Amino acid sequence: MNHIILIGFMGCGKTSVGQRLAHACGLPFVDMDDVIRKEAGMEITEIFDRYGERYFRKLETEVLKKLSQSQERMIISAGGGMAVEPENQPILAKMGTVVLLEASVDTLMTRLKNDNTRPMLQGGELRTKIETLQAKRKSIYESVCDVRIVTDGKDFSQIVDEIRSIEKSKQP
Ligand code: S3P
Repeated sequence: MNHIILIGFMGCGKTSVGQRLAHACGLPFVDMDDVIRKEAGMEITEIFDRYGERYFRKLETEVLKKLSQSQERMIISAGGGMAVEPENQPILAKMGTVVLLEASVDTLMTRLKNDNTRPMLQGGELRTKIETLQAKRKSIYESVCDVRIVTDGKDFSQIVDEIRSIEKSKQP
């Protein structure tokens, strides 16, 4: 398929960019965390609290598998841990263009400092949490993506334009 899948660390702008990109391209938008929330009938924090991270990852993989069956082209925004799971990577590779949105720790700090919806960042000092998790994930994100977009200092419309022009340049 030729979906566009946005990946990257929490707070890098996947959902905001995805919604705008979908609107600009006239394509449906799917936020994987939203699908998980709806299917589980509870918030992500509650899933983590009640059943733990591994259970959440199973739900995430199930959602990815379902989306990979769709014949309709879509813009998909993934949760920050989705692309890190080895089981998801071969599925992702067949789904279309994987776009990595990159953001510096300072940018992420600004976006995440008042957030309490992300269980992976709860407890402890936020900057340390971000740095540690990002260090673990960075090379994985880079290895699974087709395109890297630096988002620091750019507004969402600039990022959307960048992705669209890359997509256009790939067309025959
Ligand atoms: C997670 C990122 C979250 C959500 C869950 C786990 C992660 O999505 O899937 O809290 O492991 O990075 P966002 O990246 O949209 O915040």
